[in-house]
Amino acid sequence: MLAARHITRRFGPLLALDRVDFDACPGEIVALLGENGAGKTTLMNILAGRLRPDAGSIELFGRALRPGSPSAALAAGVAAVHQSPMLFERMTWEENLALGGFGARAARANRANLTIDLKEVAARAAAMAARLGFTLPSPGARMEQRSMAERVRMEVLRALSFEPRVLILDEPTKLLGPGELAAFLDVLRRLRSEGRIVILVTHKLAEALTVADCITVLRRGRVVARPLRGEVTENELATLMIGELAPLSEGARTAGAAGTLALEAKDLLEIKNLLEIKNLVVERDGWRALDGVNLEVAAGEIVGIAGVDGNGQSELVEALAGVRRPMSGTIRVAAADAHDRDGSDGGGALAVIAENRDRDGLILEMPLWENLLLARPLLARACERFGWLSASRAAALCAEVLERFHIRAAGPQALAAELSGGNRQRLCVARALASRSRVLVAHNVTRGLDVAATAEVRRRLAAFAAEGGAVLLVSSDLDELTALCGRLAVISRGRLRAVGADEHDPARMGLLMAGAW
Ligand SMILES: Nc1ncnc2c1ncn2[C@@H]1O[C@H](COP(=O)(O)OP(=O)(O)OP(=O)(O)O)[C@@H](O)[C@H]1O
Ligand SMILES: [Mg+2]
Repeated sequence: MLAARHITRRFGPLLALDRVDFDACPGEIVALLGENGAGKTTLMNILAGRLRPDAGSIELFGRALRPGSPSAALAAGVAAVHQSPMLFERMTWEENLALGGFGARAARANRANLTIDLKEVAARAAAMAARLGFTLPSPGARMEQRSMAERVRMEVLRALSFEPRVLILDEPTKLLGPGELAAFLDVLRRLRSEGRIVILVTHKLAEALTVADCITVLRRGRVVARPLRGEVTENELATLMIGELAPLSEGARTAGAAGTLALEAKDLLEIKNLLEIKNLVVERDGWRALDGVNLEVAAGEIVGIAGVDGNGQSELVEALAGVRRPMSGTIRVAAADAHDRDGSDGGGALAVIAENRDRDGLILEMPLWENLLLARPLLARACERFGWLSASRAAALCAEVLERFHIRAAGPQALAAELSGGNRQRLCVARALASRSRVLVAHNVTRGLDVAATAEVRRRLAAFAAEGGAVLLVSSDLDELTALCGRLAVISRGRLRAVGADEHDPARMGLLMAGAW
């Protein structure tokens, strides 16, 4: 079995793991739960050899595991799907998989010339993907243009390609579609029946309760409970994680604290639609990723876009962010053209929360205050007269944002890379909301957030709209969309279709998302 004993790890003054014991037996699925920053990823990184513990030991099937060595962990049979996908952006997906177990076996089979047959890798991947119900990108596609969901699928395939005895999954399920999720959980059950150990890190308590045999709950670096399946309810788990239970989605539609949005009443009377998209066409790799999209979002409205990932969502968000040039069509924010000649949003009237926080949202090697000042309105607030940046103002602004949005960090000088995944997401959301833009575009905005933070972000989005902002919420999470949005649209193959209020039930939505219109 897997037995970690007294694992302790510090980051500077912060005690991330405090004498943690963790056990798992062959043929077991163990769920690892805990709020954002509890230490889950740190513990998994130590098991996978990516981090060295300050104290403690790990035994796997009776043998001590050499600490801090990824190759020793892999040789012992530990493979991991990391929270932030670790893929080579400039390489194709086949090449990425060739660096996993498929490639090693293809090379062994082909010893004569020690080359890796990418076709063989692709064939093995296709067989595995079929079992998982995953669709693969087109042959030869490079990772850099892939969506988050596609990256996660690649990571899962690569980890499984090692046929690991211990499979670590750090929040893999948030981006899988409903059909994929069922198949994925089935695969986990099959791995269990083969006598493997599966460790699943997740914020979905219901998922942990259905699939896991036992649960380990971390709270601020300590193990607080290890219930078996059937011994706890969802509410009890939430209480164990955070001490007290925040209301889930109730109240999400009502307004929160007033006065954070700097809108002039006069403007609101004159301009109804804060965001207007007309006939937007975006081409990518020679095909139309967006094919004549029309959409309006009025002040005070939250409009949702549902869809199976990869149907043009990323292109739409990128076009709105000004980082992808449309072939034709217009985007107007508060009745002005959104993007000036250099392609950037001139006045900061539109704020975007990107899907891939590590690549597009943050600059990980920069401190938190600099990451915040990447938003022009915040930069302006940190400047003195004549545009000189004031270090003290910037630090104060950052400290205030960290506190107001409950971001757990050492302080404004901490690097974004030092934040836990959920706290990085909070930072991205905080920056967009603190910018006081009129229009907010958010893509899979609660990914990686724990139960309490998810509720809080939903409440804040509702408050933002109630104060006269316009929100475009792009999400693969139907529950989230129906809980928050007044109007819904479905995107399929780059085309948008409005969804009537009578069509909001999941079955009907599922059909629409599959393009049945
Ligand atoms: N390289 C690092 N340098 C400094 N602090 C770090 C580093 N890595 C993690 N931490 C800190 O250790 C704590 C635990 O982080 P960890 O990533 O393990 O949390 P988590 O439970 O995975 O949270 P999440 O649900 O948000 O992913 C956090 O406070 C985090 O800021
Ligand atoms: Mg984590």
